[in-house]
Amino acid sequence: MRGDSNARITAPPMRVSPESSPTLPVARHLHMVRYEIRGPLARRAQELERDGYEVIKLNIGNPAAFGFRTPETMRIATIENLSEAEGYCHQKGIFPAREAVVMDTQTQGIAGVTAEDVFIGNGVSELILMTMEALLEPGDEVVMPAPDYPLWTAAVVITGGKPVYYSCRPEAGFIPDPDEIARLVTPRCKALVLINPNNPTGAVYPREVVERFVQIAEENQIVLFSDEIYNRILYDGAQHVPVATLCRDTLCATFGGLSKVYRACGFRTGWVFFSGRKDHATDYLNCLELLASLRLCANVPGQWAVQTALGGVQSIYELTRCADRQLSIVRRQRVRHGAARAPARARRAGVFLQRRLQNAFSGDVPARRGDAAQRLRAHRRTARRMEVGRARYRTSPWATVSR
Ligand SMILES: Cc1ncc(COP(=O)(O)O)c(C=O)c1O
Repeated sequence: MRGDSNARITAPPMRVSPESSPTLPVARHLHMVRYEIRGPLARRAQELERDGYEVIKLNIGNPAAFGFRTPETMRIATIENLSEAEGYCHQKGIFPAREAVVMDTQTQGIAGVTAEDVFIGNGVSELILMTMEALLEPGDEVVMPAPDYPLWTAAVVITGGKPVYYSCRPEAGFIPDPDEIARLVTPRCKALVLINPNNPTGAVYPREVVERFVQIAEENQIVLFSDEIYNRILYDGAQHVPVATLCRDTLCATFGGLSKVYRACGFRTGWVFFSGRKDHATDYLNCLELLASLRLCANVPGQWAVQTALGGVQSIYELTRCADRQLSIVRRQRVRHGAARAPARARRAGVFLQRRLQNAFSGDVPARRGDAAQRLRAHRRTARRMEVGRARYRTSPWATVSR
């Protein structure tokens, strides 16, 4: 590493031979980019694994790592169409996939989206980067949640934009305060981002809050970016309100994909569709198409699974129902043992993930330099806990769903 300022870069460490001291300078605009979930935290986990620990990795949401298989019909759709997936496809994606996204918008009650308004990307990740790159000039502001899914911040910073954060406080059930958001919008602001259902907090925003997001974006004529990749992973009766059902008078970009609801993050297939006021956004959409063309196209085999994923029975509901049943058991036990009932605002997605996170980080892993016997005991405890978890999983309905 060159100097102190470079130490902030979270890219994998460069391999430098001891003799060749002046290192290759890296691009300045990456200096402030952080992506901890793949950075130091993941590297520390790797070290622990090398020491023999079994690490439960919740840093990136990787359903496959926890035994959640991609629905078989999607796997078959991909295999059956492999011969159609050998060449580049249209820069915006194959028509059947884009059309399937359009039909899904209709199911959700979103008006006015055509296949022309849909872009398929190598995951939502690529599309977040592209949509920001096409929009922002250095110094432009984007109002976004804190905490956020860190790629949103990274995408703004890479383009020279400035993230301006509204807070999602635990004491408010992680629901943002629209009045705070309204105060943060300045003439330099180009966009407002919401992540709903939210990663990392798990909150699902009530209709009146989503309405205020729309109102603020429309009044200020800024683009509304809505990351709805978890739109069908809902627990405890939570209702998801797609922002595109409400937004009419400004450009609205909604992101979705195969990674979470459809448990196919390795397929690297996501989409963004545009709705609301599009007439003034032709230049922006053309620039986005230019960026899509520069990378030629998104991964084609994964796109062939989109139609199958979005049509028919949605197996994710089987999984969330199962989690809901477990949640109600936990609640009953808490009531029986005199613990306070979970507050109503626990109606949020990801509540189980949060619990698992708490368990995973409950201090079982001692410092690396701790004595060997202590480490061995901790390792055995982790292994026992994982074995119990696996046994529970084998006998639960989750094990049989979508195989
Ligand atoms: C809120 C949110 N948006 C986007 C992504 C990226 O998804 P993809 O796999 O489609 O790139 C993730 C991944 O965890 C996420 O949590």
